[in-house]
Amino acid sequence: MLKIFWPIFFVIVAIHGNPVSETRRFPQDFLWGVGSSAYQIEGGWNADDKGESIWDHLVHTHPEKIDDQSGADVTADSYHQWRRDVQMVKELHASTYRFSLSWPRIMPGGYMNHVSTAGIKYYSNLIDELLRYNITPMVTIYHWDLPQRLQELGGWTNPEIIPAFKDYARLVLEMFGDRVKLWTTINEPYQICEMGYGLDYMAPSYKYPGIPSYLCGHNLLKAHAEVVHMYREQFQKRQGGRIGITLSSSGFAPRNPDSAEDREAAERGFQFFVGWFAHPIFSRHGNYPKIVIDRIRNLSKEQGFTRSRLPEFTQAEIHRIRGTADFFGLNTYTTYLATTNGHNNTGNFPVPSFDHDMGIIYNHDGVDWPSSGSVWLKSYPKGIYDLIKWIHHQYNGPEIMVTENGVSDRGGLEDYARVDYLNSYLSAVLDAIEDGVNVSGYIVWSLMDSYEWKAGFNEKFGLYHVDFTSPERTRTPKISARVYTHICKNNGINWSYRPTLNKEQLVAMAQLPAEDLAGISGAKANTGTWHWCWSLTLLVSLLRRVSE
Ligand code: NOJ
Repeated sequence: MLKIFWPIFFVIVAIHGNPVSETRRFPQDFLWGVGSSAYQIEGGWNADDKGESIWDHLVHTHPEKIDDQSGADVTADSYHQWRRDVQMVKELHASTYRFSLSWPRIMPGGYMNHVSTAGIKYYSNLIDELLRYNITPMVTIYHWDLPQRLQELGGWTNPEIIPAFKDYARLVLEMFGDRVKLWTTINEPYQICEMGYGLDYMAPSYKYPGIPSYLCGHNLLKAHAEVVHMYREQFQKRQGGRIGITLSSSGFAPRNPDSAEDREAAERGFQFFVGWFAHPIFSRHGNYPKIVIDRIRNLSKEQGFTRSRLPEFTQAEIHRIRGTADFFGLNTYTTYLATTNGHNNTGNFPVPSFDHDMGIIYNHDGVDWPSSGSVWLKSYPKGIYDLIKWIHHQYNGPEIMVTENGVSDRGGLEDYARVDYLNSYLSAVLDAIEDGVNVSGYIVWSLMDSYEWKAGFNEKFGLYHVDFTSPERTRTPKISARVYTHICKNNGINWSYRPTLNKEQLVAMAQLPAEDLAGISGAKANTGTWHWCWSLTLLVSLLRRVSE
């Protein structure tokens, strides 16, 4: 019987790792980071000569659209607390800090006629402080806070945005490119265009489905490409940095894996969500995915439009956009189950609309995956594996950097659910790497609790808790901060590392506002241990069968 024991044992070890050293390691030069964005953490909404952004405008004119009627006028006050922010990145042993620049802080009206010295100085100081501690700044040029004056011209739906964005990008590349070597142009085009113009979910909250989001996407892709060309021609050689874009997508799985129709629906989800922006940049031939072009053209015709609601690129534009990224930045959080939206529009989508064009019904109905502090976010680690592999195969193995991944809760320092999420998602990323996918880095969303857009301060993504009632916006590490430090230090996941609150955290916990304590999650079963129990059961039953 012993003869059979060792082969089975080795198979199990191969699947789950060595029980003695549970750490699974990432490639040597893997980049570990944490992220934030300007509007969500800075505050100082009208400090010095900062201009109004579309988010300032939205929260001030329509507070009722925000879950807790709040705004980010002060939020985590990083406009003043930036030194502490850098200290936190250092405490985490993360090598990279991803943050964004606020366009209206730098150019209050959106144009070059007024550049704010205070705005430039703020980011310059932050970058210098990061470099002092050997932390790589990764800068997002645009993360949703458009100058309101440009919105009054139609924002991203007006082609005027292209030269305006290029001027803004030129200025920041000139000002910071000597020290910043990692850039992304734009964060999450889908959210900017569909959630901002098609739906009522993000500023400017147009709620005008089916038309402006495609105009926005078209201009956005051109603006992105112009900036990358400019960087490559005028800056890259001299400054030696790299530039990409950050795209977002959830994963899509067929609701019924045995149904060819559901499998097609999931594939359509990928083509519409990822392909809309990725195909023009990363595919071999450029342009929007064929299925996206065809469906929107045909539906537009049926609906009585004389042209497709999806604008067409010229050959020259297709060529100019293709290849404009040194890496693929990916933000992802969850997965949806997809099925086809029947001809009679069973999903009840507005006609026309992006969702109706895509023609799939996608949701979490009936799944028992761990939930979070956000209704839209359920944990399904295999989803990130499938998504990364889909991108790898679709676009010829680009370098993928996970620029955002993380989970929300409703508060508290004992965030074991976040620990489980990070460990299991990272484990799935590692599976993809071991399959030969080029994933070069992973950036947790988020460094600290911050303003979660329309959810206000209700949903917390931070590794650090922020006391939004204290004048200095005190930051305290959660359990997940200590686990992530361990991950960064060891370049790997260790399932058995589950620290309990230390003295500093216990003191901080005693001072937390009541609403923060309400959301505390109890310690969950250790998933690593669970894997081992499962494997041992398997081993014992196999041995039994062999000895019978
Ligand atoms: C993506 C966005 O880039 C970020 O701003 C947001 O807070 C997270 N997702 C979580 O919703």
